Amino acid sequence: MSAPVPTHAPARTSAPTAAELLDFALRTAADPEIIDSLPLDPEGRTWIRLDGPGGSEAWLIGWPPGTGTGWHDHAESRGAFATARGRLTEHSLTVRLPSEGWRTLELTPEVDRTRSLGAVTGRAFGEHHVHEVLNESDSEHAISVHAYYPPLPLIRRYSRSGAVLRLEHVERPADWQ
Ligand SMILES: [Fe+2]
Repeated sequence: MSAPVPTHAPARTSAPTAAELLDFALRTAADPEIIDSLPLDPEGRTWIRLDGPGGSEAWLIGWPPGTGTGWHDHAESRGAFATARGRLTEHSLTVRLPSEGWRTLELTPEVDRTRSLGAVTGRAFGEHHVHEVLNESDSEHAISVHAYYPPLPLIRRYSRSGAVLRLEHVERPADWQ
């Protein structure tokens, strides 16, 4: 008896890389049928959960003008995001921060980076990536696609005052229901 022949793509045997997550985010951002399925609210962000590749956690997010995430990280998850409509600004840090054992850190000036991501552009990031994402437009809604692997176990939220980054609280999936 011969081995069964798969009728579709074989099950993947390895976790998705950050590059694969970015590829997914970019392909999804370029798919108008998916992007147009997101309801938009002028007053606040909206989101839909998507099936990401290889068991990753993926989201479609709508950003009214002037909205943003605040500074946060994604713990041990790597990820990627891509703008589908409008333009998003990402402020990020080039340094990898210690994950535990600190409450405030003084950042040196050279660690700050800013990216402006129009449609259809994106970026991948590794674990412990610290950033904030903003729609700085005063008139245009933005839509983006995000993917994380492993699925987010927690998010650490920070405040930023000049060079000082302060850990404010840790959110877990139960907080997002
Ligand atoms: Fe993020």
